[in-house]
Amino acid sequence: MAAQEEDRDLIVNTDLTYPVCIGDDTRPAVLSFLQHRAQPYVVLCDANPNVVALARDIRGGKDCLGVLAFTLGESRKRLSTVERVHEALLAAGADRGTLIVGVGGGVASDLFGFAAATYMRGVPYVHVATTLVAMVDAAVGGKTGVDLRKGKNLCGLFADPVAVFANTGSLETLPYRLLREGLAEVLKTAIIEGDEFFDAIEALSPHPFWRWPWLEIVAQAIKVKTMIVADDRKEAGMRELLNLGHTFAHALETASNYRVSHGVGVALGLRAAGLLALRTGRFSEEAHLRVLATMALLGMPLRTRVRAGAAFAAMASDKKRRNGTLRFVLPVAIGDVEYGVTVPDRMVKSVLAQLTRSPEATG
Ligand code: GLY
Repeated sequence: MAAQEEDRDLIVNTDLTYPVCIGDDTRPAVLSFLQHRAQPYVVLCDANPNVVALARDIRGGKDCLGVLAFTLGESRKRLSTVERVHEALLAAGADRGTLIVGVGGGVASDLFGFAAATYMRGVPYVHVATTLVAMVDAAVGGKTGVDLRKGKNLCGLFADPVAVFANTGSLETLPYRLLREGLAEVLKTAIIEGDEFFDAIEALSPHPFWRWPWLEIVAQAIKVKTMIVADDRKEAGMRELLNLGHTFAHALETASNYRVSHGVGVALGLRAAGLLALRTGRFSEEAHLRVLATMALLGMPLRTRVRAGAAFAAMASDKKRRNGTLRFVLPVAIGDVEYGVTVPDRMVKSVLAQLTRSPEATG
């Protein structure tokens, strides 16, 4: 990964219809983008004080109708919060000519994106991502939505933003717990991509996070994601690759009533997908242990107390089911992943049970 010494803002040339700008401090780029659009806008942000401070900095000029902060979190990613956002937009004077700028992490991106796509039948949306999960996954690709009681992201739509800004400077104040959660999505992307990307994450894994070249890592993860999404915007095929580990993750999140966060779920899901791939003869033990060793060095959880039966029951509402059958994304090798795989239920149950036990020895 080449170091970006001078120009710390870079626009990833995606094949998507909108720009993705990555920078240590994207505030000037956001303001200049808003100035060019010359359109009234409302800033919606997570109520976290660091995020509110960033959101207030993009309140430039008379076009800004207001900065509205909401307490978020997975348990608030519900239709009731969307209704509150809509009421607040109305009170701020937003109409069909208003642009919505969302600032925050993954929940903010899913929820504010959905609120914008449904406000007065849809207004344009920009996201300024402040967490690693949002930068490398949630904010890019146009998936928006909220959870229902029975499961994650069961209510939503594909709605592309008009621009995405990944503010990597925000990672400096992000708790390590949340960095690790985002790293689960980065590792997922590196397993899909393989090659130099996985090697780079593996080589960085023993080093403290403050030494990581975050801008380059975020840029590489976004490049891989946008390449896949550009070919399959609405997940009719290969975009399913990006769900590696996610069938397990969503089940564990739902079964734990969201005490298991998305990033923790994805980490556990990567172990589970590796185990299922081993059992079905797809993945080598060596590759599986290589992934686990990297996860262990990154301090990712490898076991859970969520009951296997409850997690399996939660899979019944997984939206990746087709005709009642669960479909998994499984690694074949690092850099080679297969989607649409069906496996017997007993294997899934036994892998879920194994997640409550110690991880495989990594030597
Ligand atoms: N989070 C997976 C995707 O965007 O398709």
